[in-house]
Amino acid sequence: MQISFRSFVERWVLPDDTVLTLRPVLPGDAALLADMLERQSPASMRNRFHGNVRGLTRERLAEWTNVDYRQHFAAVVTAARAGRDTRLIVDARYFAEGDATTVEFGVLVDESWRRRGLGTRALGALSRAAASAGYERLRGSVLAGNDPMLAFVQRHNFCCKPDRESHGLIRAEKRVAACQNDSREWRRAPQGAVMVSTQTQPAFAAG
Ligand SMILES: CC(C)(COP(=O)(O)OP(=O)(O)OC[C@H]1O[C@@H](n2cnc3c(N)ncnc32)[C@H](O)[C@@H]1OP(=O)(O)O)[C@@H](O)C(=O)NCCC(=O)NCCS
Repeated sequence: MQISFRSFVERWVLPDDTVLTLRPVLPGDAALLADMLERQSPASMRNRFHGNVRGLTRERLAEWTNVDYRQHFAAVVTAARAGRDTRLIVDARYFAEGDATTVEFGVLVDESWRRRGLGTRALGALSRAAASAGYERLRGSVLAGNDPMLAFVQRHNFCCKPDRESHGLIRAEKRVAACQNDSREWRRAPQGAVMVSTQTQPAFAAG
């Protein structure tokens, strides 16, 4: 089965006319992604990358913006307002693990855009993509001190356990089938926004 780009596109408008677009990442997003990473604080980058990372190499940016929708998928959110540069404000992605049943996911929401439901929306897109690609579980590795992410995964009913192999990490795991029960919540508009277009059902084409 092929998963279409279009089936993941959702658009909302905020009262100040900022247009938010959730969509799969595109090859042309490398500069926007690099810019988003540059804007984040060292603490956010440490929470996302589990190390002292300040950005991605050109090769890694190319890899992260060319996804195959199966073993590697990424949903981004852009914010666009007349007279201002479009910004990437969310990057959420998964990579397939070796066991063919599980994908490892990570999410980064721009510091100015948190607690509006955007991480939730992006997680919903990841779960739909993982289900469509035939995976059974979503798994995230969370630093033990990353309280916002721990609250986020607990809010979404992930099972959280200390990682036995890596001290200081919490393993958050959820069956993709269980994620589908959350689809209503994952389709709610971000706080304060009005949906202007969506496609409610993922569209698949036989392949
Ligand atoms: C964790 C993160 C992805 C959450 O994104 P977000 O867009 O702010 O999350 P949402 O608005 O969708 O929050 C959904 C729910 O998660 C919980 N939550 C999220 N952030 C929280 C916080 N700072 N404190 C308490 N609960 C929080 C709440 O239950 C929230 O629902 P509510 O706002 O209705 O109470 C974001 O804080 C982030 O990017 N952090 C830095 C990078 C990171 O740590 N990534 C994880 C590495 S795997």
